[in-house]
Amino acid sequence: MNASVPLDLQNISKRYGPIHALRPTSLHVAAGEMLALLGPSGCGKTTTLRMIAGFTTPNTGNVMIGGVDVTDLPPNKRGLGMVFQNYSLFPHMTVGENVAYGLKMRGVNAADRTKKVRSMLELVRLSSFEGRHIHQMSGGQQQRVALARSLVTDPKILLLDEPLGALDRNLRESMQFELREIQRRVGTTSIIVTHDQEEALTMSDRVAVMAEGEVVQIGTPIEIYERPQNQFVSEFLGTANIFDGTIVGQGGEGLWNVALSLPDAPIVKVSGPPHLKNSSKVRMAVRPERLAIDPTSGDLRAKVRGVVFRGSYYAYELDLPGTKRPLYVYSNEKTEAGSDGFIGLSWPQKYAILLTEGGTAR
Ligand SMILES: Nc1ncnc2c1ncn2[C@@H]1O[C@H](COP(=O)(O)OP(=O)(O)OP(=O)(O)O)[C@@H](O)[C@H]1O
Ligand SMILES: [Mg+2]
Repeated sequence: MNASVPLDLQNISKRYGPIHALRPTSLHVAAGEMLALLGPSGCGKTTTLRMIAGFTTPNTGNVMIGGVDVTDLPPNKRGLGMVFQNYSLFPHMTVGENVAYGLKMRGVNAADRTKKVRSMLELVRLSSFEGRHIHQMSGGQQQRVALARSLVTDPKILLLDEPLGALDRNLRESMQFELREIQRRVGTTSIIVTHDQEEALTMSDRVAVMAEGEVVQIGTPIEIYERPQNQFVSEFLGTANIFDGTIVGQGGEGLWNVALSLPDAPIVKVSGPPHLKNSSKVRMAVRPERLAIDPTSGDLRAKVRGVVFRGSYYAYELDLPGTKRPLYVYSNEKTEAGSDGFIGLSWPQKYAILLTEGGTAR
């Protein structure tokens, strides 16, 4: 097995006529790290991956693998493993032949091939399937074959483009854990492209959130989820309740006093960066699962518009006087509203997120 190596993108960009598929971007992926590229359709994820792979030539910048500039090398000289959404397995070959393919192309002898293929099939828990044909395998099994095939040549970098996109929800969830576990075990530096937030959070060490050809925030899954820097990131990573407000003073260590633009709202304390000024306009986000509801007490009062049971929690839709957008609360318990149909809302201070980078990603 190769020792893990870092991957560096230095100022790479790609334009298609007027479209900036990727604006100049620099990224460091540490040796052995799994980085997710997460973003809506058309934001430049696949373009980024294709430039790393060498299928698309960047307009500017360099791709460095293990400190070596590979920008001018063809894909097959970059030491990559790749897995795509549609598996792209050879349908007329057996599982074993599919996995052995890359080794055969490299002139590895039959005995070594067999040994290596068996160890790979063991890694992906398909040891007894070596002689099966691809069309006799389920979607999840096929995806594991694709993974084994891409890892058999000991790639320096593993590139995964929506690898679980074709699987149904349950299988997808278990494959997320499995793929992650395998990646940790082999230690190959990896990039996974996905537009599924949960998948990015589950599988990666860090997430790069992209929008319109740019990385808008990069961080650990917890940082991205709990400390989004702008409204785009907070809303793309699950549901977020957004409140408009104004800074009205320093609230203590790293805290700001924020007056929400709502009738009857108290001044709330929100933690945020040190460079804010009095009277600057800010937005505050609170996740639905962090809002607590109570029939009688709370900082804000909202009218219950509807409640649905979602299996593991109740989802409340609320109307907050003075706002247009509904508010969402996820609660483990069912709470009855007061006789006026209103309910009280509160949140632990540490779960209020100050969004300081303007209203949207742009
Ligand atoms: N070969 C091409 N020619 C012209 N435009 C392209 C080409 N490839 C990509 N684009 C454009 O570049 C932008 C980024 O595309 P890309 O495929 O990287 O998006 P993506 O983030 O992978 O989206 P998806 O989630 O839908 O796969 C899009 O606007 C797309 O239309
Ligand atoms: Mg894509």
